[in-house]
Amino acid sequence: MTNVTIQLNGETRSAAAPPETTLLDLLRDHFGLTGAKNGCDVGDCGACTVIVDGKPVNACLMLAAQADGCTVLTIEGLASRHRMHPIQMAFEDHASLQCGFCGPGVILSAKALLDENPNPAVPKIKDALSGNLCRCTGYTKMIEGIQEAARVLRESAASRPAQESGE
Ligand code: FES
Ligand code: FES
Repeated sequence: MTNVTIQLNGETRSAAAPPETTLLDLLRDHFGLTGAKNGCDVGDCGACTVIVDGKPVNACLMLAAQADGCTVLTIEGLASRHRMHPIQMAFEDHASLQCGFCGPGVILSAKALLDENPNPAVPKIKDALSGNLCRCTGYTKMIEGIQEAARVLRESAASRPAQESGE
């Protein structure tokens, strides 16, 4: 068994797992977080995408032991207690998903992109989603949702200093 400790959605979580356990299996089977999906198990579909130390990764390709000491964000940790994340709200407003199977991975790829680039051009958004396979949507509404979320996040970042100074 290998002991793994990660910062998972803001909490310290530990587990003892066989050395061949992937991060995806650790999340789903040991921690009960089933938002990251197993679509292919070989790195082709992106349904298992989570954010590790700020970068989107295919959790099916990463050993749990490689994540030891890392910060991991899954779709379960994205919303705040009473409010969906702006990307989730924009996806709802734009009907960006259909069956939803790819959704957690797509949304986390979008989050990693917008954390790094608050105003991405469409080709950058397409690049960011290039590892996320969607069989339903054709991607156009996802791109619209990500552009909308980017606008909302930029506006909220711009209004924050004024709020903080009490204006
Ligand atoms: Fe990981 Fe498909 S399940 S890329
Ligand atoms: Fe069905 Fe993307 S919404 S796979």
